[in-house]
Amino acid sequence: MSEPDLFSFAAAKSPESRIRELRTLLEHHNRLYYTQAAPEISDAEYDRLYRELEELEKKHPEFHDPNSPTLRVGGAPIDGFQQIQHAVPMLSIDDVFELKDVPEPAAELIAFYQRLRKNLGRDEITVTVEPKIDGVAVSLLYRDGKLAYAATRGDGKTGDDVTHNVRTIRSIPLDLTSSSKIQNSKFKIPATLEIRGEIFMPNEAFAAMNAERDEEGLPTFANPRNAAAGTLKQLDPKIVAKRPLAFLAHGLGAYDGEPLETEHDFHALLDQLGIPRNQPLFTARNLDEMLECVARINRERHDLDYGTDGAVIKVLDRAERENLGFTSRAPRWAAAYKFLPEQQETTLKNITIQVGRTGVLTPVAELEPVLISGSTVSRATLHNQDEIDRKQIHIGATVLVEKAGEIIPAIVKVTKPVPGVGVYSIFDHAEGKCPSCGGPISQEDGFVAWRCTNFQCPAQAVTRITHFASRKALDLEGLGETVAEALVRHNHCRTPLDLFDLTESILANLNLGTDESPRRYGEKNAAKLLAALEAAKTKPLQRWLFAMGIRQLGESAAKELARLHENLNDLAESPILAELLRDTRADAKKKNELLAKYSITGDVGPAVAESITTFFKSEAGKHTLARLSELGIHPQSPISNLQSPNGPLSGKTVVITGTLSIDRDAMKEYIESKGGKVSGSVSAKTHYVIAGEGGGSKRDKAEQLGVPIIDEAELEKLLQGL
Ligand code: IVH
Repeated sequence: MSEPDLFSFAAAKSPESRIRELRTLLEHHNRLYYTQAAPEISDAEYDRLYRELEELEKKHPEFHDPNSPTLRVGGAPIDGFQQIQHAVPMLSIDDVFELKDVPEPAAELIAFYQRLRKNLGRDEITVTVEPKIDGVAVSLLYRDGKLAYAATRGDGKTGDDVTHNVRTIRSIPLDLTSSSKIQNSKFKIPATLEIRGEIFMPNEAFAAMNAERDEEGLPTFANPRNAAAGTLKQLDPKIVAKRPLAFLAHGLGAYDGEPLETEHDFHALLDQLGIPRNQPLFTARNLDEMLECVARINRERHDLDYGTDGAVIKVLDRAERENLGFTSRAPRWAAAYKFLPEQQETTLKNITIQVGRTGVLTPVAELEPVLISGSTVSRATLHNQDEIDRKQIHIGATVLVEKAGEIIPAIVKVTKPVPGVGVYSIFDHAEGKCPSCGGPISQEDGFVAWRCTNFQCPAQAVTRITHFASRKALDLEGLGETVAEALVRHNHCRTPLDLFDLTESILANLNLGTDESPRRYGEKNAAKLLAALEAAKTKPLQRWLFAMGIRQLGESAAKELARLHENLNDLAESPILAELLRDTRADAKKKNELLAKYSITGDVGPAVAESITTFFKSEAGKHTLARLSELGIHPQSPISNLQSPNGPLSGKTVVITGTLSIDRDAMKEYIESKGGKVSGSVSAKTHYVIAGEGGGSKRDKAEQLGVPIIDEAELEKLLQGL
């Protein structure tokens, strides 16, 4: 694309063709800039074209296109994170804590100030006091005013390059030269400017995003910090662009601009450059003022739009900072004062059980509403049974509640128990059943969580359908999480087997988008998925077993089971699994004997046996078998052979003759355990005859047919591959 063509004839073109042209051109440069990091035009030129397009689009709404670059944010996904070495190490700050139940809760903070006094040899040291942002630390490096890269803290020396994501954050300027204020100011744009700050998700935006995700059946984030951290780790900046991240600066790294005498000068520079900075920020000239400022932040912090659990105190004067210097991990001129979390007593009215997307049963405390840290708390997660046992939680008790990390309410302890009421039991209250579907629940070995194991549980629909469709399961191409979510959201599917009831028109018209911006699945995709579903019907047993998402049953256990069984009915009535369950609980030796007998690998053990047995015995399991049968789906095992799949004798037929050191049956089992098949008579298909003392006719026949005759010692050598 040559530029003269675009510029010189621009005026002569119709708005429609110019819009089209600009979109193409911007898209071209956008790609060069973001994806290939090889811009051909300056940022300013890009902006001019961008603005021209914006204006034309405003004047001509009839040419609206949701794909216009003006509506587009973010470039192509990256493959992985590059490492970036920080120009100046990103240190942390020493924490000082507000103390509990003591006459002077701020004693540690006062001690920090005393150290400043001692080190600087003065009584009154001016400090700044500002809230500590609960976010993700980043370093933004600007070269000649342009954002060169953005990196996370990492280990303080090197961090992840998150530039692709940071560019989508609108509060982060990409080009400082476009800041109008800088022109008439005493500052020039420094050649190198490294800004430190926090990326965070504003509280309100976080709540709204989580509510939306919940509605769409997506997993929600535990708190704004996790949401911000998780978002920054995305490889696809388009996802990031849709998340409400914000940035505030609080520090300076590498810098070669005009000298800055105090923190106030630094703030003035930030303001000139249009870089948003952390506020409120107070200046305290002595100890008392510092304590007052800290107290004020503690009082007012709940009104901030970000989470904060403390205040950061820094020496104002930069020369004084240099005098104070650093310890090995943190500057001596700063401290982070951590506030005690606010706590309130209230009554635990009830406990309800929520079923999560992966079937985990989470107990939730229903509380008499109380006001904590500026908001009303009426529920708190109790995490799991261990937590309940540890804290002796029971209904009716008076409990102490706090907001951990100032966001998520938690129960600290029981302050007034109700005599005679037992500790709450998830299993008892759920009566052993999933509160969402009535299916069986189980607590796996080594895990504290109770889980619903029902294939049909609606609370787990999206997860189960997505797993069912995955490549190693039934490989339903075109059915990923988005489609699964849409199917569940629009009530087309509650269980994976409901997929087989879908019609072409339901699928083609499925809305993968929102009401405001719908996106159809379309006829082509619909036809493809239906074909994949048809093909799935005859997929082998091991694929089906894995697809069913039975707990404990991974891909290789599924293969093992398919080796030991012909079909699902076999498995439902499996004597092997019954034996495993019956004999192995108490007796490890028995278990090993059994595993050896069927040459079962470690992937199938009592835990798998139990999980499968529970599943097939449950209503849900029976229903699944019935539905499959109704649908005419009878998965078969092509690998069923009760023998070791890849033992050294696999595929070999062996005949035993004569008297051996162990009895015949034992030898037969031994050979089978190595993958061989034992036959009663010698033929041309026999691979080996194992001969002991004696052994008449079989030995003769073997000699006739030229079948190798070996003794036990030679068998051993053979097995060891010698
Ligand atoms: S000043 C030498 N100010 O907390 C470090 N840091 O625990 C000077 N943080 O690394 C940092 N809010 O990532 C500063 N208002 C604030 C802050 C803040 C949050 C983070 C920052 C720092 C960490 C230390």
